[in-house]
Amino acid sequence: MATKVLVSDLIYDVNHVPTNYIRPVSDRPNLDQVVQSFDHSIPVIDLQGFNGSMHFDVINQIGQACQNYGFFQVKNHGVPKEVIDNVLGVSREFFHMPESERLKNYSDDPLKTTRLSTSFNVKTEKVSNWRDFLRLHCYPIEDYIHEWPSNPPSLREDAAEYCRNVRDLALRLVEGISESLGLKGDYINKALGKHGQHMALNFYPPCPQPELTYGLPGHADPNVITILLQDDVPGLQVLKNGKWLAVNPIPNTFIVNIGDQIQVLSNDRYKSVLHRAVVNCNKERISIPTFYCPSPDAVMQPAPELIDDDNPGVYRSFTYSEYYQKFWNRGLETETCLDMFKTSSA
Ligand code: OGA
Ligand code: NI
Repeated sequence: MATKVLVSDLIYDVNHVPTNYIRPVSDRPNLDQVVQSFDHSIPVIDLQGFNGSMHFDVINQIGQACQNYGFFQVKNHGVPKEVIDNVLGVSREFFHMPESERLKNYSDDPLKTTRLSTSFNVKTEKVSNWRDFLRLHCYPIEDYIHEWPSNPPSLREDAAEYCRNVRDLALRLVEGISESLGLKGDYINKALGKHGQHMALNFYPPCPQPELTYGLPGHADPNVITILLQDDVPGLQVLKNGKWLAVNPIPNTFIVNIGDQIQVLSNDRYKSVLHRAVVNCNKERISIPTFYCPSPDAVMQPAPELIDDDNPGVYRSFTYSEYYQKFWNRGLETETCLDMFKTSSA
């Protein structure tokens, strides 16, 4: 039997996941302990008022959510429904193409700017995850679009339109987060150098034993903020007070989370929170995170305004490219990469 690189193409006993996907007993999703209640889910913020008289109310809601959850959802975000439907549709088409057509884009090198891969980092991890993903760098778009898959034929156009719209949203959110910290609205945008934006099209096939494996194990995102689009199949969970909360899909709503760089810039006022994706027996799931980033050469450090005698600087300065390489090399095994960038006194 030929070796299969992608989970979508695996040939296995229909009732059992292959052994390399099985987590040790101490590291399983414990799906019966997940909090499913809608009332306890993460806050939904209406961005309608962002540019009007409700501006400070919206900023206050953003600040509260960042402090209490590290996560929030946004509605009336300005990204047209058609743009969202198109990118979800073309992603589904991509993952349903024949194996040989998909594999033209395969690479296991995390630093490649366009690549199809599987799990998280196949070069470093011991247990595999039940996920395939197409990762695309997308800002500045003209530097990368020629690398993107030319099949399905509308992928470049649909993904580009989506990226441009989500970038506008990301800039507003980063401005709001900056203001919520008491910084100038453009402080964080300026700290990101020339800016960067990546996205992943995540594909989680149905899984015969979702209680034994993960789509993605608990992790924090290394970037500035992540804007997640998910289809109508649940799977995302967020850690809150030691419990995993399910974030069930609300149509036309994005899920936003603080990444490690906001934790650094805010000098630990806002925390980059652990989250994970679980799989299920019946339905494939697609999620599309946009990772808004500094440019690789941008120097990251806590904002001087947030450092004083009571709050000494927690992190040393570093370039984003240094952080990003460490993130991919250490894998998702231990929980956060931030500890490697703390000052010796912190
Ligand atoms: C990620 C991520 C969650 C999901 O790709 O970093 O957290 O629901 N994805 O796919
Ligand atoms: Ni993530």
